[in-house]
Amino acid sequence: MRLKRTHMCGELRAEHAGQTVTLAGWVNTYRDQGKGLMFVDLRDRTGLTQIVFDLEDADEGIVTAARALRREDVVAVRGSVRMRDGKPNVNLATGAIEVMGVDLEVLNKTATPPILPDEHEASKIAEEKRLQYRYIDLRRTRMQQILRTRYQVSKIARDYFGEHGFTEIETPFLIKTTPEGARDFIVPSRMFPGQWYALPQSPQIFKQILMIAGCDRYLQIVRCFRDEDPRADRQAEFTQIDLELSFVDRDDILEIMGGFARRLWKGVLDYDIGQIPVMSYHHAMETYGIDRPDLRFGLEIHDISDLARTCDFRVFSEALAKTRGVVKAIRVPGGAESLTRKITDGYSEFVKIFGAGGVPTVKVTESGFETGIAKFLDPIGDALRDRLGLKAGDVVLFTADTWAVATKAMGELRNRVGRDLDLIDRTAWKFVWVVDFPMFEFDEESGRWVALHHPFTAPMPDEAHRLESDPGACISAGYDLVCNGSEIAGGSIRIHDQDTQGKVFGLLGLTPEDAETKFGFLLNALKYGAPPHGGIAFGLDRLVMHLVGTDNIRDVIAFPKTQTGQDLMTQAPGPVDDHQLVELHVRSVAPEPTPA
Ligand code: AMO
Repeated sequence: MRLKRTHMCGELRAEHAGQTVTLAGWVNTYRDQGKGLMFVDLRDRTGLTQIVFDLEDADEGIVTAARALRREDVVAVRGSVRMRDGKPNVNLATGAIEVMGVDLEVLNKTATPPILPDEHEASKIAEEKRLQYRYIDLRRTRMQQILRTRYQVSKIARDYFGEHGFTEIETPFLIKTTPEGARDFIVPSRMFPGQWYALPQSPQIFKQILMIAGCDRYLQIVRCFRDEDPRADRQAEFTQIDLELSFVDRDDILEIMGGFARRLWKGVLDYDIGQIPVMSYHHAMETYGIDRPDLRFGLEIHDISDLARTCDFRVFSEALAKTRGVVKAIRVPGGAESLTRKITDGYSEFVKIFGAGGVPTVKVTESGFETGIAKFLDPIGDALRDRLGLKAGDVVLFTADTWAVATKAMGELRNRVGRDLDLIDRTAWKFVWVVDFPMFEFDEESGRWVALHHPFTAPMPDEAHRLESDPGACISAGYDLVCNGSEIAGGSIRIHDQDTQGKVFGLLGLTPEDAETKFGFLLNALKYGAPPHGGIAFGLDRLVMHLVGTDNIRDVIAFPKTQTGQDLMTQAPGPVDDHQLVELHVRSVAPEPTPA
């Protein structure tokens, strides 16, 4: 490189006028005015600067090189900064100035780029293509900003937790298996034929063992691997800000972690999220139909089973006759105007996805109810009005089924109506801690209890006796942090004695032998002086998604996988050489042909 960079492309302002500078970067656009003037927008990760070459005045070498410039060529330019003729470009941070180029060094010519890193074009280019040529797509200013924000989040985490006495400690990637509930990625062992490592779904057990090892406060910004289908906010390979603390209770953890969320939002967005409210799981499920409620809008759900019992409406009575049958209702203010028949018919179809039969509906008028199931509701009209605070012009949406089905269907319907009617305040940040989860859920299919968090979550201190008497009613010391309806962190106080851990494994259907094989090392460690401890993990990718305002997790990861788990740039997964398989004692079995 003959020319040495002095400034970044997003840096120059009016105060630099008169200075000689050297910029380096990619040719974003070029315009040959034909009258001897040539304009080049030069781009690096910080932004764009307009360069002007006066081709009538320049050396022949520069004229030839400038005329041959194409988009995405890599160049360095030396020149003097001057105020722009005419109006400044207010859309550009450097829009007040331009650089009169006097020297040009072409550092690398590009082949014709298959895509251009153009902000306006990006949405029109298929995402597959952008992922295949990720190195070009990442040159976009927006993508560069996202990568910077991601770094800022890690940095704030390290600073904040460092100030609070945490030590960053690495844990292994080649491990036994972790019980986070997803499918493991497994790695064959060359040294031990027929034996396998698993990649960690999280460092859960290791961080607990670090507490037993006296580390007191642990932090790790760590990759986790879960072989599950990717979704808009989920990748098979994702990053956690993982934390564990000794000698603390639940409130201590909510306090420290709430402080971190506050520091993040202040540091990145200069926004004060204030004190984070706490809500019980029970309240969240009853009122919002979901354990990660979006509090940016109302449309609360009401249980009206007691009133519905007195109606002569078959859909209600059949539901109420089921075990844990319920009737739930949502008041949609002003729905008579905004919800057409077509829309509400669509809702009936929508809830079928979640197993519910439909969404009976009524309109509220000054004199009573109209349309739909109005005639059945007359006997409970006044009580319903009071319970839901109904006003003329409202619509009420009902669902009747078992508690589990009706709750899920109403939770999903509430979010859908919120979106359809544009009720979500997109400028709001609504954080909430959800606490007091049940320890277990009964899984009808396997006929067993399953842990709502993971099997190391402790019961609340005064709930432990229920492990024996009534496990279904036992409340755990788990907590989730929810932001605008998305779970950004989850954790719990852990079991720190071998007895309780054994009991919980037993309830989850693990025989003492299974428990010994799978988690013997943890049970053993718990014998030798385990302090009370608890922790949490933030989803780093999800935090960044919120902070940069995207719904697509792939936007916040430099090299993400597609919905089918492929890396389109490197073409992973791919085949390996036969000799690699032989060394690993693995034989590839051709997939069964699919029946015609
Ligand atoms: P959990 O499984 O709840 O807890 O994960 C913690 C947080 O990680 C994020 N997350 C994900 N982000 C992207 N893609 C995924 N596939 C994905 N899965 C989870 C979420 C979630 O809140 N060991 C426990 C933590 C603990 O108990 O301390 C754990 O992993 O934001």
